[in-house]
Amino acid sequence: MLSKEDNERLTRVGPDTPMGELFRRYWQPVALSETVSKPDGPPVRVRMLGEDLVLFRATDGRFGLVAERCPHRTASMYWGRNEENGLRCVYHGLKFDVEGNCVDAPCVSKTSEAQLESIQRQLKIRAYPCIERAEIVWAYLGPPELRPAFPELDWTLVPTSHRLSTRHIQECNWLQALEGGFDAAHLTFLHKGETSHVSRTIVPTLYEVQQTDAGFYTATGRDMGDGQIYWNTNALLMPAHKIISAVAPAAHMWMPIDDENTMLYSTEFRYDGPLTEKDFDKVRGGRWIHTVNHPGTDISIHNKSNDYMIDRAAQGAGKSYTGMQGLGIQDCALQESMGLIADRTQEFLLPCDIEIVKIRRLYLQALDDLAAARPIMGMNPAGFRMRMERWFAPKGDDIGKMMAERKYGAAARAAK
Ligand code: FES
Ligand SMILES: [Fe+2]
Repeated sequence: MLSKEDNERLTRVGPDTPMGELFRRYWQPVALSETVSKPDGPPVRVRMLGEDLVLFRATDGRFGLVAERCPHRTASMYWGRNEENGLRCVYHGLKFDVEGNCVDAPCVSKTSEAQLESIQRQLKIRAYPCIERAEIVWAYLGPPELRPAFPELDWTLVPTSHRLSTRHIQECNWLQALEGGFDAAHLTFLHKGETSHVSRTIVPTLYEVQQTDAGFYTATGRDMGDGQIYWNTNALLMPAHKIISAVAPAAHMWMPIDDENTMLYSTEFRYDGPLTEKDFDKVRGGRWIHTVNHPGTDISIHNKSNDYMIDRAAQGAGKSYTGMQGLGIQDCALQESMGLIADRTQEFLLPCDIEIVKIRRLYLQALDDLAAARPIMGMNPAGFRMRMERWFAPKGDDIGKMMAERKYGAAARAAK
């Protein structure tokens, strides 16, 4: 349970909110590169952290991410012409480069060069720096002087053939979606029937959470009943990344669109070779953490408006615990059912919610650090190089020690 004040503090992400300020200190995913692949191609609408923006790829391949409202008379830049290294508002022809400078103002009568220059100087459009990594366009919306180096997330460093990302919109606040990603107990219920994996049959009873310099690193243990514990690790990296221990490994990013909507990015990747046909099938079929979207949109065909196409007959016949297809949709349905912004004053937390409690503490601590101008987590790019694993170990083995050994994966252990 949280106080109303803390719930507000943790969930609101607009430009003038504490959490909004925290998110703006990190690189954020803006778009899959394929949607803006063509220089001088059509601009795309972006809503992130409560701001309406327009993304375009300029003639020279660089990205521009600018405010949707033209600084002249607030018309939408989405209708703009993307031409010769700039986006031109089609209302009166003002043109802006990727840094937001007004580089042409053909509607201004040329009384004098100096006057024209002065008008152009004042007519800047809000623009944010972007870079492309791992077939995703990323932006930094924070103070320029505090921009961190790009995080060394393992999945962004493998070759293109080794990874594939999808995304879809969740109609709820980012925090309840992220909390769902670290809710180990739900696997045994909500996702029952997807596989016969031990995570679907045994409720975890052991939890270990360690703070790292980029977030936290958690281990969940399931007692196999034969003297062995099945452990698996996951990491939360600032501001809202998850590295998932799975075969193949996977990653999530929760990017707040605004207070009530979230863009969930999901990536399949392999360290040691290209993705397999089986991996691709999983993605294309909308299975596991992926969804099948309406063509050209980020909206899943299974969604709130159609009750996620629940199959009550399949549920009744015991073929599916939920009657819903795929982990991603099952998660979406339950996380969205908590309301647009979950009211955490109404909860009754249980011992299995320990990771959820720690997540909230971690973010509250980060907000306190930010407010007090202390260093915040996740500013060291190397702190993001974590690998997650699954393993069996005899009951009683020191989990803290095992986690420390496994933090950077088997290859790193072998190299020592
Ligand atoms: S509103 Fe954009 S140029 Fe006038
Ligand atoms: Fe889930």
